[in-house]
Parts: sequence; structure tokens; C-alpha cells
Amino acid sequence: TSIQTFIEGLPKTELHLHIEGTFEPELMFKIAKRNHLKIDYADVEALKRAYSFNNLQEFLDIYYAGASVLIKEVDFYDLTWAYLTKVSGQNVKHVEIFFDPQTHTDRGVPFETVLYGIYKALKDGQEQLGVSFKLIMCFLRHLDEASAFKTLEQALPHKDKILAVGLDSSEVGNPPSKFKNVFKKALEEGFLTVAHAGEEGPPEYIWEALDLLMVTRIDHGNRCLDDPKLVKRLAEQQIPLTLCPLSNLELKVVRDLKEHPLPTMMAHNLLVTINSDDPAYFGGYMNENYWGLAQALNLSKPQIATLAKNGFKASWLNNDEKQKYI
Ligand code: HPA
Ligand code: ZN
Repeated sequence: TSIQTFIEGLPKTELHLHIEGTFEPELMFKIAKRNHLKIDYADVEALKRAYSFNNLQEFLDIYYAGASVLIKEVDFYDLTWAYLTKVSGQNVKHVEIFFDPQTHTDRGVPFETVLYGIYKALKDGQEQLGVSFKLIMCFLRHLDEASAFKTLEQALPHKDKILAVGLDSSEVGNPPSKFKNVFKKALEEGFLTVAHAGEEGPPEYIWEALDLLMVTRIDHGNRCLDDPKLVKRLAEQQIPLTLCPLSNLELKVVRDLKEHPLPTMMAHNLLVTINSDDPAYFGGYMNENYWGLAQALNLSKPQIATLAKNGFKASWLNNDEKQKYI
């Protein structure tokens, strides 16, 4: 079989996915219309032409604008359901997805409206599509720690639905240390923790995520390679990195997929995984991310299979659930 067919057939996980980043232009126009809201672009084609980014911030500005048409619980349901049907068709068996409550609560959308819409779709996806899930609530790091605390308070009655907290949005200038108190409280409350670190920010941010936020995974982590001591730590403790190849290409974290750090990371025995980040904006879901990287780096079938297995290893499935796949 071709590499492409091989990738399609592999059971996969998705561990780095912003649900707001799965908002396809067609659905965005549909939901805007039924909410009587206007989008700044004439049509789907015009909107898609705006998807050209020089860095993370240029992407975030468009991503937050897109999310602003999500108002009702059913909007969040439809968004999540569209994502799940898409990846279930790509043989994704398990997802651990992010949502950004502050993007919505700051516009007056109630926390529960967001959470219930997403959660009900995830439940239905588990039953009807066989895709298991965990949910991760992210704090927006460009906002202050007080706002993150408020968001954590809103999550406390929903520990049955939210397993972990994470940290996303504009990285440079907003180090993990800015959120050490709210993550401490989250840990005391029993949440697992993850954080975006080393996408555009320096290796110091990865150290802070590990030592101050006590993360069990690093989201992105590309820049760990600038610091040999850090690479050694990540390898020894087998801390997973959730890499996002097409995101890295589109946000100019790498110039070309041929220059992606994955092979160097694998050579250092890092537990690397492939994920899609914001697939509606970066031109590909899971199979496209595997395929783009495999093509650019000439990955072999055993290497690709290892990456898919790493996803299960790095997940929060229990050992019995993992055993089926690794
Ligand atoms: N980095 C930081 N924040 C984000 C991202 C990302 O890649 N995607 C959505 N929010
Ligand atoms: Zn991300």
C-alpha cells in the first residue's frame, strides 16, 4: 500500500486541537446567518484568502474574529460535531481537545453554554462514532491571571467533564510563570495540566511549564532543541511533545516541512506526537499532517506507525485502553 493509504488506515489520536480552530468557513457563514451576525468578508472564498499568516499573532486575530459568531449552545454543538465526523472518517480513535472559554465569556456567552454544547457533541461522538475523548480548558495567556482564576472557578462544578487545564494564545511576553498561582490551584483541585511552550517562545518557557505548572505534556515544544539540558530532561522523563506540522508551516515556525525538527527530536528519543492544532485554518486534519510530514521528511512506514503509537502512549487513556493500540 502507498504511504498515504497506510496513514489513512492507522488508528490515530489527536492531542493538540483547539475546537475553535476547526471552524470551517462554510459553517461559519451558516452560523453567522442564523445568529443574524455579519462576517467581515463577502463570502467563503474571500475569507479563505485572508488565511495567510506571518506569525502566531496574525493567525490569532483572525481566529478570535471567527469564533465571535458562536453564541448559542447549538453553535458549539455543531462546531464540535462537524470536527468529530471529520476525524472519525480519518480513523482517529481518541481526541483530547482544547476549548478557550474566555474567548466566549468575555463576549457575554455563558460558560455553561460553551461547555455543554461541546460536551454533548463529544458524548454523542463517543456513542455514535466510537471516538473517545478528554476535554482540556485553556486559559488565554494574553489576559491576566485574575481572569484565569475566574475561569477556573467556573470550571469547578464541572470536574466530571473537564480533565485538564492548558495555556494558549500569544506566547512571547506571556511566560508560564505569569500563571503559576492559578495552575497551582488547578492542580490542588485535581486537574491535570498542559501548556503551549516553545512554539515561538524560548526554552525557558518550557522549563517553567515543567517546573512551575507541572505539566504532563508540552504543546509544540519545538524550541527545546535550543537547550541540550532540556532535551535530556524531556527524553529521560518521556514528557510528550504535541507537534503540529502544518501549523508550524503556516505560522512560519518552520520555513519548510523539510526543516521540521521532528527527525532530530526522534533521534534524541523524545516522545513526539502529530496533531493538527487548528485544521480549518492551517489546511489539514490528522491525515494531512501525517502525510505532509511523511512526504517532506521521507518517513518510513515503521516511523509513521511509531508516531501514531506515541499518540496513544502520550494520551490520558488508561493502560488497558492504550494496550489495544501500542
Ligand atoms: N498557539 C497558541 N495559541 C493558539 C494556537 C497555537 O498554536 N492555536 C490556537 N490558539
Ligand atoms: Zn495550539
